[in-house]
Amino acid sequence: MKKRITILSGAGISAESGISTFRDSDGLWENHRIEDVATPEAWHRNPELVLQFYNLRRKQLLEVEPNDAHFAITELQTKFDVQVITQNVDDLHERAGNENVLHLHGELKKVRSTAYPFDVYDLDGWELLIGDTCDSGHQLRPHIVWFGEEVPNLSVAAQMVSESDAVIIVGTSLNVYPAASLYQFAKTDCPIWIIDPKANELSYPESITAINDKAGAALPRLVDSLLKGEIIL
Ligand code: OAD
Repeated sequence: MKKRITILSGAGISAESGISTFRDSDGLWENHRIEDVATPEAWHRNPELVLQFYNLRRKQLLEVEPNDAHFAITELQTKFDVQVITQNVDDLHERAGNENVLHLHGELKKVRSTAYPFDVYDLDGWELLIGDTCDSGHQLRPHIVWFGEEVPNLSVAAQMVSESDAVIIVGTSLNVYPAASLYQFAKTDCPIWIIDPKANELSYPESITAINDKAGAALPRLVDSLLKGEIIL
């Protein structure tokens, strides 16, 4: 049976594709207040502003491509059972050919009914507007987990981590819970790496191996070592 490797990814894995992270300098949260665009209260107060914020994120997806980090995960699939659990709402994992991708914080290209949360649609194009409705006539909203909302895929993600033979954390500042705590569900003997050019500024247990480098360079190197059997799981 193939060994299971779980990738826990965040905004940093898409940074080299040209998508801004959230908390780096000039990141999205430096230029927008979370409470204006990413909470249920913001949606009630000013839905146009919220829609505009996500419309721009969606439009940007048309201009970017997956990078070497995303493609390295596709390579890893040739020998391992790979599960991606991502905090990202972009579709770059899928576009690179990553097969098993679980989105913890939703997906930009999907929208859902404000009345029926399980009524989820693929959006045609990049723009969602006031007046765009679900089949039952209710306003559609971005299919995004906002601050203060439940993370529906959390327990299935925790189960996936607990069944892993190795975990690779890549491009997340480990600031947002519950996503940041997922690696803690790994078995005690499960090797865990963290890839981040600022890994030495982040907080995690000493048992985790830090690789202080960008995802596009470090992940292909780590994948190469795993594929060649230089690292045995
Ligand atoms: P952050 O912006 O908090 O963290 C991005 C991390 O990526 C930082 O630690 C950077 O050092 C690192 N990074 C930057 N460039 C990199 C590169 N080329 N290679 C590897 N790492 C790099 O983003 P997340 O941790 O993903 O949630 O943020 C988590 C959640 O906060 C997001 O999903 C979003 C946000 O609010 C919601 O909107 C619900």
